[in-house]
Parts: sequence; C-alpha cells; structure tokens
Amino acid sequence: MKLAILSRAPHAYSTQRLRSAAEQRGHTVKVLNTLRFAIDLSGDEPDLQYRGRLLSDYDAILPRIGNSITYYGTAVVRQFEQMDVYTPNTANGITNSRDKLRATQILSRHGIGMPRTAFVNSRADVRMAIERVGGAPVVIKLLEGTQGIGVILAPEAKIAESIIETLHSTKQNVLIQSFISESRGRDIRALVVGDRVVAAMRRVASGDEFRSNVHRGGTVEKVALSPEFEEAAVRSAQIMGLRVAGVDMLEGKDGPLVMEVNSSPGLEGIERATGLDVAGAIVDFIDNQVAFPEIDVRQRLSVSTGYGVAELLVHTNADIVGKTLRDSGLWERDITALTLHRGTSVIPNPRSGVVLEPGDRLLCFGRLEEMRSMIPDRRKRRTKVRKLPKEAQEALTEE
Ligand SMILES: Nc1ncnc2c1ncn2[C@@H]1O[C@H](COP(=O)(O)OP(=O)(O)O)[C@@H](O)[C@H]1O
Ligand SMILES: [Mg+2]
Repeated sequence: MKLAILSRAPHAYSTQRLRSAAEQRGHTVKVLNTLRFAIDLSGDEPDLQYRGRLLSDYDAILPRIGNSITYYGTAVVRQFEQMDVYTPNTANGITNSRDKLRATQILSRHGIGMPRTAFVNSRADVRMAIERVGGAPVVIKLLEGTQGIGVILAPEAKIAESIIETLHSTKQNVLIQSFISESRGRDIRALVVGDRVVAAMRRVASGDEFRSNVHRGGTVEKVALSPEFEEAAVRSAQIMGLRVAGVDMLEGKDGPLVMEVNSSPGLEGIERATGLDVAGAIVDFIDNQVAFPEIDVRQRLSVSTGYGVAELLVHTNADIVGKTLRDSGLWERDITALTLHRGTSVIPNPRSGVVLEPGDRLLCFGRLEEMRSMIPDRRKRRTKVRKLPKEAQEALTEE
C-alpha cells in the first residue's frame, strides 16, 4: 500500500518507527507535514494539494495530529475521508477524544467506568459540583490539556473553588473530577489497535507527584492486563471512533476508570516498556483495513427520501416476540435488520431463523414511516425529585 503519515515531527521516535515498520513490510510511505496541505474544494471532486502540487494517490493515511493544530489537522483528515482514503482515526474521532469533556460525555452513556466528573459554568454551582463528585480532594482539569499540564489536585473545597474561579476568569473551561486516591499516582496506558490491546504499561508517578505522565517524570513498566481492563480500553476506543488509540485508565477499587483516550499515542514509552513492535501492529492493521474506508453509514443510508436507519426495540409484549426474523413481518414492511443487540452481545447480519426476544434491539434500515411505531420510548430520567408546586414550576420554565 501507499501510506502517508501526517505529522509535523518527521524525526520523532514514533514517526520514525512507523515509517520504518511500513518500509520493512514493503509499503511505500511518506511523512507529510499536516500544515502544508491545502484543501481544494474548487473542482468537481474533493481534492488536496501538498506543498502547492496536486497530491498523488494514497491508499491510507495515519494522522498524528498534535494538540496545537487540531482544527486544521482534522480538516485535512476529513478531506482525505471525503476522498475515500482509509484512515484508522477519523476527524470526528480525533475531535471527540481531544476535548476531555466531550469524550467523557460520549463515553458516559455506554457504561464505561470513569471517575465521577462534573462541568459547570457558574460560580454559584461550583460548590455543589465538588460535592456531587464526592467532595475534596478533587482533580481539576483543563479541557484540552495534555502531558499532565493543566491537571491540578485541590486538597480542599475552598482551594478548588478559588482555582476554578481563577481559571474561569481567564476564560478557561475546566472539569471537576473525583480524585481516585487508591490509584496512588499510578495509571495504565493501553494501546488499542483495531479491536485488541496490542501493548500495555503501567506508569508510576515520581515522588509525591500524583500525575503519572512520562513528561512529569513518571516511570513505566510493562503490565499484563486483566480482561476487564482490556475490554474497557477496546470499547472506549471503539466508542470514540478511534482504531489506533492510547487509553488511559486508573485502577479504581471496583475496576478500570477511563480518564482519556488519546488519538496520537506516543510509541517510545510503550515500546521500550514492553519490547513489543507496536508500530508494526499499527501498520499491519492499516494494511488489512485499507479496502474499507470509513463510511458515514447513517448519512449515506439517509439519502433516499423516506428511508433511514433506526434502532428498534422488541417490546416485552410486542407481537414479534418469539417469532423468527423471517416471520416478524419486517421484510414485508420494507425494513432490513443490520445488527441485533442482545444484552451486551451483538449479532451482525442476523439470520432469518433467529428468534426475537423481549429487549432485543435491532439496528434497521428501512422506511421511516414503518419504523416510527417501533422506535423505543426516549430513555426516562430518574424521577425521584418531588414535583414543585404549580406557581414555582411556572416561574422555572424560563432561564
Ligand atoms: N481523577 C483522577 N484521580 C487520580 N489521578 C488522576 C485523576 N485524573 C488524572 N490523574 C493523574 O494525572 C495524569 C494526567 O491526567 P490526564 O487526564 O490523563 O491528563 P493529560 O491529558 O494531561 O495526560 C493521569 O495520568 C493520572 O496519573
Ligand atoms: Mg493522560
């Protein structure tokens, strides 16, 4: 294959390793400076120029987009996606993972263990938020920090409040997160490629530092992950839309707590700690996937008027319970089942003989009108809160 590594650091360890892993395997590989691409939307088809010349054909790209150029970098990746060039990490995936709040929001609905986290704007809500995550000490994080910079441990609520107030006054948004003391300055970095963890290490903070980042003096050692940690890492990467990712987890007393998912994980620390050929695993994975460029399925399937995708729930008392997919009548209603979610397992391309059970979720493509009646009710929030008297309720409807 012909591979382009998008990077502004051609001499960095990771770039060098990826380049030589690709060369060793007989691929053509170029390291291209992300900022030297020009996005060309003037012609009939989306195109790209590099250093002022039309870009030649590539089979795949591997984006290594630094934090300081997220906007431009993801625009270039998105342009490659429009040109049907394979990328393991999509522009969306990179954007989602880069912002710690956005990542936490997306992961939170998928049952991934995470440290309790809150996000507030108003000074009046800070104290409550600290309480909600379990009280001091709390960790305060800048949304787009990396390498441990912008991660602060506040020992007391008062101090936390004044730090947050200071940061807010300089227009910086911050997360408030419970401090996972049992992890004691240690965390796990799992390198996910495709749907497996190819290498993992434990990072240990130096001295009385609580941040275990290598850039903060942390040391690394290889570690064998339990299936629970492997699954949390792989699922987090998948949910974020990243096929190459470094997933950071704390060792909480009840299992893994995912802190962040990195879309351009460094390879030096993990290859040295484990002695594994991570770069080679990444290149092999891309080589295997090249024929399958990322497709925005929902968007592509919604271009026929009146058709779209929807997730249908098999209600407990629905008349299709106990019937096979063939006899369910879906086909006659112009609905095709793409996958069947049952509990935590997924059956791709469910066969016509599969018997439907209550609680099954079918991801379907079909006529929206026919599917409307079968769409599950919106998830109800807990309604433990007492209803307010009528007047108070009316006063609350605005603002
Ligand atoms: N909630 C927390 N409890 C305990 N330690 C934490 C917590 N959040 C972060 N840390 C420590 O700080 C380090 C940096 O935090 P992280 O969210 O990964 O930011 P960065 O993007 O700067 O690496 C982590 O590797 C971990 O050692
Ligand atoms: Mg980190």
